[in-house]
Amino acid sequence: MTQTEATAAQNEATEVARPVSRTVAESQSEMTELILPNDANTLGNLLGGRLMHFIDLVGAMAAYRHSRTHVVTAAMDHIDFIQPVHVGDLLILKSCVNRAFSKSLEVGVKVWTENTQAGVYRHVASAYLVFVAIDRQGNPVTVPQLTPETADEHRRYEGALRRRQNRELESERRKRAKQAPAGVGSVRPGKS
Ligand SMILES: CC(C)(COP(=O)(O)OP(=O)(O)OC[C@H]1O[C@@H](n2cnc3c(N)ncnc32)[C@H](O)[C@@H]1OP(=O)(O)O)[C@@H](O)C(=O)NCCC(=O)NCCS
Repeated sequence: MTQTEATAAQNEATEVARPVSRTVAESQSEMTELILPNDANTLGNLLGGRLMHFIDLVGAMAAYRHSRTHVVTAAMDHIDFIQPVHVGDLLILKSCVNRAFSKSLEVGVKVWTENTQAGVYRHVASAYLVFVAIDRQGNPVTVPQLTPETADEHRRYEGALRRRQNRELESERRKRAKQAPAGVGSVRPGKS
């Protein structure tokens, strides 16, 4: 058995020992980035896509800590870009699992900047992401349930169910729109 196979076998064995439920505190994650010119647009502000990349990463950290499986991002919704982030700022991202469903879970991410000179903090973005737990073959697997403890955790737990229902409604709406007969405005520019 190679080292990689041995590690994989050990991971599979660990998966069996996963608990049925975890607390929010067990998934809480944080990362800090120094924003450099390479991350910015021509005005010296952090690119939106780069911010989404950081959000995806810190979201995945919480999902890993909750599920202890492989995870993939299934959806990223409701991102509010509230204020620009400038080169030289510290970007602080915090994430935790809001609710676990069967094979998916919702993670909430909140982002602040810290001005390195003034030490002032600003809330710059928030986002919700859905991760799906998968095994090594890519098949979805069940995740431990989440046990909310504080009032804020209960509020986010309830909100996550409403957002899941909204996502499902939106997904149905998009499916119906795709199936609808082509009408005015459905032709792509450049096609006749
Ligand atoms: C996400 C993925 C594994 C789902 O596979 P699938 O065969 O559709 O899975 P299922 O229909 O069995 O659904 C499994 C779970 O995923 C959820 N899910 C699937 N697609 C979803 C979507 N677009 N948004 C939110 N949740 C989704 C389902 O609601 C279900 O959750 P539940 O068990 O908690 O109710 C698959 O679509 C995939 O691999 N997508 C690509 C992911 C990816 O590459 N991400 C970017 C890089 S990480």
